Amino acid sequence: MYIGIDLGTSSVKSILIDENQSIIDSSSVEFSISRPYPLWSEQDPKEWWAGVLQTLKSLSANNPKEMKNLKAIGISGQMHGAVLLDNHDDVLRPAILWNDGRCQAECEELEKLVPDLREITSNIAMAGFTAPKLLWVKKFENDIFKKVNKVLLPKDYIRLKLTGKYVAEMSDASGTLWLDNNKRDWSDKILNAQGLSRDHMPKLIEGSENSGTLLKEFQDLLGCENNVIIAGGGGDNASTAVGMGIVNDDDTLISIGTSGVIFNVSNKVNAHPELTVHSFCHALPKKWHTMVVNLAVSSAINWGVEVLANDRDPNNIIKNLLSLGEQVKAHIPLTPKGFEENNNGLPIFLPYLSGERTPCNDMNAKGMMTGLTLETTTAKMMYAVLEGVAFNFRQSLECLQQAGAKISHIFASGGGTQNLYLMDLIATSMNVELHITEESAVGGALGAGRLAMISTGKNIADVTHKPKVTNIIKPLKNIQTILDTRYNTYQKIYPNVKNLY
Ligand code: XUL
Repeated sequence: MYIGIDLGTSSVKSILIDENQSIIDSSSVEFSISRPYPLWSEQDPKEWWAGVLQTLKSLSANNPKEMKNLKAIGISGQMHGAVLLDNHDDVLRPAILWNDGRCQAECEELEKLVPDLREITSNIAMAGFTAPKLLWVKKFENDIFKKVNKVLLPKDYIRLKLTGKYVAEMSDASGTLWLDNNKRDWSDKILNAQGLSRDHMPKLIEGSENSGTLLKEFQDLLGCENNVIIAGGGGDNASTAVGMGIVNDDDTLISIGTSGVIFNVSNKVNAHPELTVHSFCHALPKKWHTMVVNLAVSSAINWGVEVLANDRDPNNIIKNLLSLGEQVKAHIPLTPKGFEENNNGLPIFLPYLSGERTPCNDMNAKGMMTGLTLETTTAKMMYAVLEGVAFNFRQSLECLQQAGAKISHIFASGGGTQNLYLMDLIATSMNVELHITEESAVGGALGAGRLAMISTGKNIADVTHKPKVTNIIKPLKNIQTILDTRYNTYQKIYPNVKNLY
């Protein structure tokens, strides 16, 4: 038996799997985000730990026999968050998250402090990453900065609680901007430049290695009879990739969740910081990946349902998110006739509702709806939101292709895969087939469970097979030129308005 924990931003989900990777049980707990000032996004690490413990206790209470044989736990985590600990391991302030945009200025400062930062890390400094967050804390909360003893990523804080050890693994560590991506080691040069050192960092291992054993008190609490290994685990995208078998050169994954990610595996470092492509280590040894990140996907769609369709009931939002495609389809079918009949006042939408990483690396970028006329309806605006999300993916995919990714088809994961209208728009805009699989909705938890299996000595290739494809979404050839024309207009908007904000 193995457990995969997926510490996300909106919830933590833990799954119990057997030797065949069948899911025996799962448990989850929801989280909220605190946004006390514009661009800020924070969570309390103690709430994460309470949530994780609750899911583990629930798995144990419902499956006491299976838990006796628990061999290993893997952890997948929301990336980039800064958990600051003092020398008693107490949390010094709320964790600053991956979607926090307060430190755009510190990114520029960091690149000046370390002129070869892009060569060392393979990445451009982005506000979402961890290093500029610490520059911000040093500048604006210096008393806290002086007390920092260790900086941990979100899932590595959970590991500390489970094992008592400070350990990080390569895929998540890449997103700090303190990692030398080629050497898979911390960069003393970058750390020292901002008043930190290797002593502030956890030890580094691979995601599939053993980071320590579960503390005796939790082994007893959960009713485990063996020593339970805690695997390195991975950042959420790398873990999802492991769970979907995206582990070989040019295997590609699109993740359609709160944020959107296209993830392409490579056997060597592929650095293209100028294209706003993230170049990180994979959660498996000697593997890397390039990745493009869109900050607002289901959050943009939720916004559309809540504000444009005026439905503020949170339960309906979930329902609408899934049924939304059907509702818009009734008004605007994806056919030449559908576009012809709705052409007047069919707006174009920029989905930069919380700034953007790829393609513009601009936390001050704003959402925008253009091309409104008196004929514009709610359905047309909702269409535009879905299309804007799809066009953002297309533009990001083009960055990845310019960086050399050879993509023939893409495996799809995340809650958005259930919205088939959206999937049609994405496949058609990108002109690429999307493969939906049995595991498309599972997320990082299965990958974390697989990393746990490998940490006990199992063979990587045996564990990381691809799940069965259940549906292939093909580009809709009959509307491709229509979407191409609209995409052409879409691309011209941001460069013309970016200086307004
Ligand atoms: C990746 C990223 C997001 C978060 C979401 O760079 O910031 O995918 O990990 O959880």
